[in-house]
Amino acid sequence: MVVYQILGGRRLCGTVTVQGSKNAVLPMIAAAVLTKEEVVLEGCPKISDVEDMAEIVRSLGGTVWWERNALHMNCEKIEKSRVEGALSKRLRASLLFLGSLLARTGEAYFAGAGGCRIGKRPTDLHQRAMELLGAEVFEEDGTIRAKADHPKGAVLCFPKKSVGATENAVLFAVGAEGATRLEHCAREPEVVHLCRFLKAMGAEITGEGTEQITVYGRQGKRLLSGCRYRVPGDRIAAGTYLLMGAATRGHLTLSGAPLDEMGAVLSLYQKIGGQYTRKSGTLVADSKNVQHAVPYVETEKYPGFPTDLQSLYLAAAMTLEGKSCICENVFEDRLRTAEELQKMGGTLQICGKWLTAEKSRLHGAEVVSQDLRGGAALVSAALAAEGFSTIRQTELVERGYERHPETLRDIGAKIPVE
Ligand code: EPU
Repeated sequence: MVVYQILGGRRLCGTVTVQGSKNAVLPMIAAAVLTKEEVVLEGCPKISDVEDMAEIVRSLGGTVWWERNALHMNCEKIEKSRVEGALSKRLRASLLFLGSLLARTGEAYFAGAGGCRIGKRPTDLHQRAMELLGAEVFEEDGTIRAKADHPKGAVLCFPKKSVGATENAVLFAVGAEGATRLEHCAREPEVVHLCRFLKAMGAEITGEGTEQITVYGRQGKRLLSGCRYRVPGDRIAAGTYLLMGAATRGHLTLSGAPLDEMGAVLSLYQKIGGQYTRKSGTLVADSKNVQHAVPYVETEKYPGFPTDLQSLYLAAAMTLEGKSCICENVFEDRLRTAEELQKMGGTLQICGKWLTAEKSRLHGAEVVSQDLRGGAALVSAALAAEGFSTIRQTELVERGYERHPETLRDIGAKIPVE
């Protein structure tokens, strides 16, 4: 178990170079099996979710290696189409091999997805998409077996917007014959980045970033080409440091932040009193006047306020004047962090998917990370609190944040080395 000890009460000041996007790069790793040529992902974050996806590629017969911050993959020899449980259950994104393996080999065996415990997280939309594109799919207790001898393009309308199901459908549709029109797609930037990456590999796709994506499959050849691609900056990591700066009234320069994807969090930051200037990918954020809570914040699909930053706002809200009512609309079980924050003195009330936060006198405490973003919120609250905090299970935080304690130390956090 990884444990962070944090001495709070210090402003975070300095420069953070924003890491490559976790949720953009994980589907790109699944997409690497669509080619026999080398794929290079430059600026890839060195986090455990990436290592786990790389391990799956190796288990399928591919080779993976690092050259500094570039992840190299060669999937010339994909010998298997089984993703074993010991690997698949480490993270949710393992489910994306369903689409890419079906496209590459015509079959896929998937022993069940893992990932953060933030809600039920079913796979019905993924399975339905595979079926509509011509796969036979059998599911039992989370294990999925799928076979597709002649995948064919189709028109598919998702009954509910899902980032992962949209990505999986695109990955499979690339290997299907003819055109696939996907309707009611997720518009999240990570879907856009996957499509751009696939286009760099030679796929033909239009409409990414809108609710209707069209994929022109196969075109007489089954496989795509290799490519070298730069992973975009992580909007959630950038938002995390921005809100940590707010919680500690710091002054941060975030270089490489994908500002065009951060509209909702920047607007909230301004409403609580934060001031910022932006200049070609660099955000200078001054939190000295951060003061007032936003009365109502709800999480929504992109371009709304992201569920991944809900608990980070919650941590900041406890330092603000007034009450904040927060509504979690995306994942039904993503408020468990609030109970840990109460141990630090947080005045919080939870009722179903609603949560009310009031200004609290935060003090150090021993708490346990409940999920990746919730763990980061505990770190943020500990940075703002008086005294020492011990945060357990921070390996969950390290699934998504590169060199997290080191990055925080560089901007003034007191996190003694074990
Ligand atoms: N859903 C279904 N059926 C499905 C799939 C999803 O009902 O087959 C539901 C989910 O239960 C949820 C909603 O649809 O209520 C949206 O889930 P979605 O499929 O969009 O989420 P995801 O693809 O599983 C990705 C990110 C999450 C992020 C969400 C929402 C990755 C690897 N994960 O998850 O990121 O919170 O989109 O934006 O891209 C994180 O980084 O900490 C994280 C959890």
